Amino acid sequence: MSVTVRVPAKVNVQLAVGGARPDGFHDLANVFLAVGLYDEVTVEPADELTLTCTGPGSDQVPLDRTNLAARAAIALAERHGLGDPKVRIHIAKDIPVAGGMAGGSADAAGALVACDALWGTGASRAELLDICAELGSDVPFSLVGGAALGTGRGEKLQPLDVGGEFWWVFAAADGGLSTPAVYREFDRLSPEAPEPVAAPALLDALLTGDVERLAATVTNDLQPAALSLFPSLKETLDAGTAAGAVAALVSGSGPTTAFLAADEAAARGVADGLAASGTCRSVRVACSPAPGATVLSGN
Ligand code: C5P
Repeated sequence: MSVTVRVPAKVNVQLAVGGARPDGFHDLANVFLAVGLYDEVTVEPADELTLTCTGPGSDQVPLDRTNLAARAAIALAERHGLGDPKVRIHIAKDIPVAGGMAGGSADAAGALVACDALWGTGASRAELLDICAELGSDVPFSLVGGAALGTGRGEKLQPLDVGGEFWWVFAAADGGLSTPAVYREFDRLSPEAPEPVAAPALLDALLTGDVERLAATVTNDLQPAALSLFPSLKETLDAGTAAGAVAALVSGSGPTTAFLAADEAAARGVADGLAASGTCRSVRVACSPAPGATVLSGN
């Protein structure tokens, strides 16, 4: 008996960041869009909790109980009085690791949904979302997918309608960025950050599926901080723009960069241009929106 769940990566089309809160987190207006790059999480009964991972960058993924997918299994088992979970979790990675695309959060949401199906715990959507929010700010969105406005620290979600497809190119950088370090740099650069609000023009661009309008309205308040810590990302952004991207931005806290293209053919052109530019490690094309955590098979 095993269960496999597919979970998407995300891009933030608006990441508006307020000042640091007393708990150290920042209030956000975070417009998430799930993109069609997926990890697959498979769970099956085992003698004890074990974790394996394959795919690009899998050597950087911790395989102990600190892994968010392991923590998700532990949290679900605890709530349902199952003791320490006896489960093998396998992650087939395709989402860039430590890249600001919520790969770790996706694995947590995937493990949670998979364990719930494997154990027949029958957790409600509300309970699953509650566990997701405990695990991390981006985890609830990995569960629901599509598009959503995240407020609070990003975990309070309001689903958004999307009226069309948007094509993206993602460039993985050589090296990583620590999310807390990027937020600290944000605090240093923006000591008087105003209250974050979602931009009506951007929400309307999503609703109408208008790529030009979305291109004109995407913003990431963490971008100056990410560029300050990782200055060479500017060259990647410029290379994508030169290759025809209609918008170029750092994805979340980076260092992956995201490029919006007019359509699929344009996205392939941007990807080729970026690959030839020598300013990034690898390039991927993906379409949005994408569904959230989905059970692929259980047998
Ligand atoms: O919630 P998550 O574990 O993904 O957050 C990682 C780190 O990112 C936090 O420890 C915090 O430093 C920073 N963060 C923040 N404000 C948020 C989300 C994350 O300061 N809204």
